[in-house]
Amino acid sequence: MAIKSPEGMNDFLPDQALAWNHFQQTAQRVFGTYGYQLVYTPVMELTELFVRGIGEATDVVSKEMFAAYSGGNLKTLLEGGKVRSNSTFSLRPEGTAGVVRAAVEHNLVPQGAAPVKLLYAGPMFRAERVQKGRLRQFHQVGVECLGAEEPTVDAEAIIMLMRFYEEIGIPAQSTTLLINSMGCEACRPAYREAVKAYMDAHADGLCETCRTRAEINPLRAFDCKNEDCAHTMEGAPHITDHLCPACQEHYTAVKAYLDAAGVAYQEDYRLVRGLDYYTRTVFEVQASDGLGSQNAIGGGGRYDKLAEEVGGRPTPGLGFAIGYERCQLVMDAAGVPAPHATGCDVFVATVDPSLRAQAFAVLQQCRNAGVRADMDHQGRSLKSQFKLADKLGARSVVVLGPEEVAAGSVKLRNMETHDEQLVPVDGVVAALS
Ligand code: HAM
Repeated sequence: MAIKSPEGMNDFLPDQALAWNHFQQTAQRVFGTYGYQLVYTPVMELTELFVRGIGEATDVVSKEMFAAYSGGNLKTLLEGGKVRSNSTFSLRPEGTAGVVRAAVEHNLVPQGAAPVKLLYAGPMFRAERVQKGRLRQFHQVGVECLGAEEPTVDAEAIIMLMRFYEEIGIPAQSTTLLINSMGCEACRPAYREAVKAYMDAHADGLCETCRTRAEINPLRAFDCKNEDCAHTMEGAPHITDHLCPACQEHYTAVKAYLDAAGVAYQEDYRLVRGLDYYTRTVFEVQASDGLGSQNAIGGGGRYDKLAEEVGGRPTPGLGFAIGYERCQLVMDAAGVPAPHATGCDVFVATVDPSLRAQAFAVLQQCRNAGVRADMDHQGRSLKSQFKLADKLGARSVVVLGPEEVAAGSVKLRNMETHDEQLVPVDGVVAALS
């Protein structure tokens, strides 16, 4: 049987590769205007980074990570031996932990320095149950701003996120921006206790998972898809009623900046996000068309304690990530034209196989000048060469015939208008431009 790609991990063939490339370039262009600079971090990190950064009790870390071992270590493990924690890796389930690790490791935010704004794009891996919009290898574009806790950072990130969707072709009317505040270490513990007490008192209306969650991570119950749980949690205390004055002030300022910028949002007390590092502002963008239950096309928030969690100095941070595949589904549903990959712009054809050497020289002339050019390599007839030129998307065909070549010229045909002109054999590039 032929070997297929792993479940939930897709190939990007030329059209899809072009689309992903366009997505990244649009992000670089839009976020670049806000000062974000591109970085790349490894797709694999020490497992401990994710355990400490994202949180051991989260679904992402406890259930969805792909572990990676060297061959020797895997053998040791399978034989019942132990592998040192500094040889235990995981494929990254998200980009924030790795970028913050890199910023700490390379001291990108020295004491008193201006904030650093980083942009990244690449594959992420989560061992989830595969369904529409939920993959095991998916792609994100994300940003992280490290070193500033001012609410302007939060507002600016949300504003540019919404601008990105518009630029990529996702209509504003098919997205909803949800925001919430998760509080900080001063106010969240008491809030968690209040939610836990509420859940204990209403355990009958909760699913078994949520009853367990009440002990470890009660806020996760807001996320539960079970209808009874959703109904029960409607009566739970809301975080925004339990924020300390500093968090309240921060949250109010973020909203005021969004209002002033004319960015529409909905406050959602149930938005708790699936990663433990968040403090204060959290946000998510949901799409109404093209996706089923997996309708979050991007999300993020503030994480003022994460740098310390991974061993760095106190460094406030905020960022978001956009899910490429989900955006693509929404763009397809909205009828956004998909880019089409072409093989070449100019095709060099010969009337007679004896002219191949001259055709080859014209081909080099084009390529040396940076023109995407190709020719037939399989002895096709002239008619078939034109068919191939069409298939490759060539906009012009250079035709070499014995008489023209003897006179030092070639025919240049515009594939769209069908116009033909005679040009000197060494003047093809000039004629094309
Ligand atoms: P996240 O909400 O886990 O946040 O993921 C961000 C986006 O990635 C989601 O909104 C969704 O579009 C996409 N996504 C997540 N899981 C899958 C999947 N299995 N299949 C397809 N798409 C998926 C983060 O990853 C945070 N690191 C965001 C962040 C950056 N927070 C602060 N800075």
